[in-house]
Amino acid sequence: MSSPRFDIITIFPGMFAGPLDYSIVRRARDAGLIELHVHDLRDWTHDRHRTVDDYPFGGGAGMVMKAPPWFEALEAVRAMDSRPPHVVLLSPQGRTLEQALVRELAARERLVLCCGHYEGVDERVRERLADAELSIGDYVLSGGETAAMVVVDAVTRLVPGVLGSAASAADDSFGGGLLEYPQYTRPAVYRGWSVPEILLSGHHQRIAGWRRQQQLLRTALRRPDLLARASLSVAERGWLEAALRERALETEGEPDDAH
Ligand SMILES: C[S@@+](CC[C@H](N)C(=O)[O-])C[C@H]1O[C@@H](n2cnc3c(N)ncnc32)[C@H](O)[C@@H]1O
Repeated sequence: MSSPRFDIITIFPGMFAGPLDYSIVRRARDAGLIELHVHDLRDWTHDRHRTVDDYPFGGGAGMVMKAPPWFEALEAVRAMDSRPPHVVLLSPQGRTLEQALVRELAARERLVLCCGHYEGVDERVRERLADAELSIGDYVLSGGETAAMVVVDAVTRLVPGVLGSAASAADDSFGGGLLEYPQYTRPAVYRGWSVPEILLSGHHQRIAGWRRQQQLLRTALRRPDLLARASLSVAERGWLEAALRERALETEGEPDDAH
């Protein structure tokens, strides 16, 4: 597969200079592992003020993004590459982004991310142009730009060759359906707080076992919804139940927010 291509359509192209110019996304761009193109929606307006919004039919507060610039922009952007794009409208009403969806998006060769503003976008854009609507969570942002940055970052991490070792994406939280284990680095003792002894043992198998247990415990305590969907061996389930029982005994009588 050739390098995946992202096209972002926005009324604030300047917002992307910075966040996507650092770290892994920057390295991926420099190495030619992804292509990123940001387009100003106003380039497809035809009036002196480069207007992209108008009053909502039927009245109500705020402004709505007009359909024509979106249709013209999508037609032009589509033609910039021979690969057919998967057009995503960022919207709080869309499917919520989670790692499974990130994996689906990472399998696409070309994504066009459409960033809404104001009260949102004329419904005909959603109906006629978008292949999918995507939300980054159940809250309302002022615009789709920050959501688009989240999508580019999360998807880029899964593009082959972007992360140093393929294992690191799989080890990350959600990679195997669980949260990641706790991580430590030097110094081994800081202000009297030591890192777990096992991590200094050099015994790779025991370290791997400890990390797996920590993942199970962490996920059970913080995200039982994820644990319910994860595949655990009988031995792991047994260990986890015992660990949770032990923990419940230890924390009995402590205030609810104690960790
Ligand atoms: C103020 S919001 C519009 C919200 C809209 N009136 C509604 O209630 O569904 C403006 C734009 O921000 C973006 N946006 C807001 N919240 C988002 C979220 N949770 N995920 C993705 N995009 C979001 C969308 O592109 C949206 O068109």
